[in-house]
Amino acid sequence: MPDEKVFNLCSARRTLLLGAGALGIAVLTGCGGDEPAPGAGGAPGGSAAPSAPATTGGNPFDDTGSGGGGGPQVPSDALVAADEVPVGGGLVVKDTVLVLQPTKGTFKAYDAVCPHQGAVVDPPYDGNPIIMCPRHNSKFKVADGSRVEGPAPRGLKGIKVAVRSGYVVRA
Ligand code: FES
Repeated sequence: MPDEKVFNLCSARRTLLLGAGALGIAVLTGCGGDEPAPGAGGAPGGSAAPSAPATTGGNPFDDTGSGGGGGPQVPSDALVAADEVPVGGGLVVKDTVLVLQPTKGTFKAYDAVCPHQGAVVDPPYDGNPIIMCPRHNSKFKVADGSRVEGPAPRGLKGIKVAVRSGYVVRA
């Protein structure tokens, strides 16, 4: 008898469910703990099998130097792939390093943290020779990171970089 089997699985609730009919059986099948309830196919709205986690694809810019496996060897001190840095502009990597390519094949880098109150500066674009801080509009020269104007007490700290194996790396 299916009803007796269900009652044996959850005797603590037996008295509550006597006479509850089909509704009681449905509740009892849900208290079986680890055992799947007989006849209970996937409940609507229940948890589905988790989707596969997004693959990282081997971030070449992490600090592990793992290189993502199988791909070209990425220097352990790589900041960014050289071909990802726009000519006449730049980008901020790791939230702390501003990498610039003022002219094709020439790379510069500065500490991206503004010396005024610590905002991350905006990279220049389209050949603009000025780096702007978005918080209080301090301006710095692309050429050497020196302060042009604004409340920043000094220029951006330079970071020596080189290109190795197609990546901008700390020199
Ligand atoms: S934080 Fe950059 S100008 Fe104030």
